[in-house]
Amino acid sequence: MGKLKQASLMHYLSPLKADFISIVVLSLIANLLMLAPTIYMLQLYDRVMLSKNELTLFTVTLLISVLIIAMAFAEWLRSIITIKAGVKFDQSLNGKLFSLAFERIFTASYKNTSESMQDLTNIRQFLTSNGLFAFLDTPWTLIYIAVLFILHPSLGWLATLFCLIQLGLGVWNQRSSDQPLKVSIHANLNNQQFLSGKVRNLETLHVMGILPRLYNRWQNLQVVSNTANDNAMRVQGRNQHINKLARYTMQSLMLAVAALLAIEGQISIGSMIASNVLIARALQPFDIIVSTWKQFIQVKASIQRLNTLLAIADNHDAIYQKFNAGRFDADRFDADKLPCSLEQHRDIKGEITLNNMSVTLSTACKRVLNSLSVNIQPGKILTIMGPSGSGKTTLARCLVGVIPVAHGELLIDGISIELLNPEHLSLACGYLPQDIELMEGTIAENIARFSNLDSSEIISAAKAVGIHDMILRMPLGYDTRIDEAGIPLSGGQRQLIGLARAVYKSPSILVLDEPNAHLDEYGEAQLLNALLTFKSEGKTVVVISHRTNILKVTDQLLVMKNGEILHHGSKDMVLMKMQQNDSTSTPQQQAA
Ligand SMILES: Nc1ncnc2c1ncn2[C@@H]1O[C@H](COP(=O)(O)OP(=O)(O)OP(=O)(O)O)[C@@H](O)[C@H]1O
Ligand SMILES: [Mg+2]
Repeated sequence: MGKLKQASLMHYLSPLKADFISIVVLSLIANLLMLAPTIYMLQLYDRVMLSKNELTLFTVTLLISVLIIAMAFAEWLRSIITIKAGVKFDQSLNGKLFSLAFERIFTASYKNTSESMQDLTNIRQFLTSNGLFAFLDTPWTLIYIAVLFILHPSLGWLATLFCLIQLGLGVWNQRSSDQPLKVSIHANLNNQQFLSGKVRNLETLHVMGILPRLYNRWQNLQVVSNTANDNAMRVQGRNQHINKLARYTMQSLMLAVAALLAIEGQISIGSMIASNVLIARALQPFDIIVSTWKQFIQVKASIQRLNTLLAIADNHDAIYQKFNAGRFDADRFDADKLPCSLEQHRDIKGEITLNNMSVTLSTACKRVLNSLSVNIQPGKILTIMGPSGSGKTTLARCLVGVIPVAHGELLIDGISIELLNPEHLSLACGYLPQDIELMEGTIAENIARFSNLDSSEIISAAKAVGIHDMILRMPLGYDTRIDEAGIPLSGGQRQLIGLARAVYKSPSILVLDEPNAHLDEYGEAQLLNALLTFKSEGKTVVVISHRTNILKVTDQLLVMKNGEILHHGSKDMVLMKMQQNDSTSTPQQQAA
């Protein structure tokens, strides 16, 4: 795939440029208008009190009221635009993230699918938070310093020095609290993830007495997370207090210097009080930044994770686009064999070719599949056998495009699987995973893969695997609701519904991972019948099974061991070869 293309969230933020400019301009206006109360105070002390003119007081008060209303309006408008920009940003990205979250190829950096959505929420919330406003207000500190310079150069220089000190404290805060905050955020995440998912295994936890030990492990994680939280909060609290102390000290010093200048008659009493207000305003954004630093760290990590995810996805898209332009590796691919259109997915015949294909899982350190070369023809049934851990499921997942090929090729009708549109591939493939993985919804929705319910297709899929009558015997028939764990279905029923889902809308390729694991004799006979029908319809059928009954309908047999092919060929030839080795053992035992 080559080097990853540099992509970033900036691509999704750039349409918000106009909003961002408005926000900056409104920040400038709000900060300028923020000077109004100070100027009002100066007018009262230095003009009204001296002239004792009530009309001036009335006029100045009226004017200041208008300015304060304008300031409030600018701030309100700024927050409205920010919220709208946040929503726009979310909407522009959430669709893409939703689909990426469920593509495991892209999500190695995410432990669960909802994490990337949480990252998006973090960023959106930060975009509308006080923390961001503090960052936006910081440059306008210069306005307050400029006014202090106008009041008296010494006050201006002192304010510059104080702002530099506050900036230095900000940098120190960042250096000292970054690490503890990261550790604490990470520990909290670990703790949350530990419990999620375990609820599904409640029965095993109870019966096998795992619950008390689980509690101990959770408690250990809790101690780690509490310690990390305490540590982070201690550092953050200390920094906030030091910051506050420095700010109050600097404000008082500013007042003292202003008082000295007033005593010497260099500035008025009004200017003295104004200087105190101005320095408070100048230092305020730094204070907010320190107190919202944790949020900033979280957002930074979220941005990094999303950037990585988008970069990988963009890279994948780029390969597909290159192919569409007919420029991708022209030597290897015929330009006429472009990926089919959505309506043409049925034109995929289903010939599968592996050329020295190897697979490395991101979570495993070793190659899980090594140099496999196989050709599977439409209208044939290939059975894969081999001991546990030999790579059968991994091969199945590869065939349906769930995990990428590391080396070599996996071709569907002569086209590399990477270059097929995933949507077309999913329409052309029926897959029954080893863990079945039914989802919360009705039986009909599960069979229809949660697409628009097409009753005749649903019923014909159910009939094809022989469960139509069984479904009708349920109180709500096809509308019976099942939960994430497939309850209230039995293990065998779950498997058959998974099988009906795989054959829904008659895909050209069927990959079935241990479809008979939970079936009784009757169920297995139904399955064998169904396999023969699929074969007669010209589908490419790949079945993984530990049970030898399946050999009755098998054309080709592939025996795997340690991620490699031990035997491959027609069923009779492979069985004969194996019998020569050991006349009593099954293919499973031989491979073992
Ligand atoms: N997600 C994963 N991360 C790391 N290693 C994995 C992962 N899935 C499988 N493996 C490893 O890949 C190898 C092949 O596993 P696979 O599930 O393909 O075996 P299998 O032949 O289907 O076994 P079984 O008959 O028990 O289902 C095993 O060594 C396993 O440890
Ligand atoms: Mg398996």
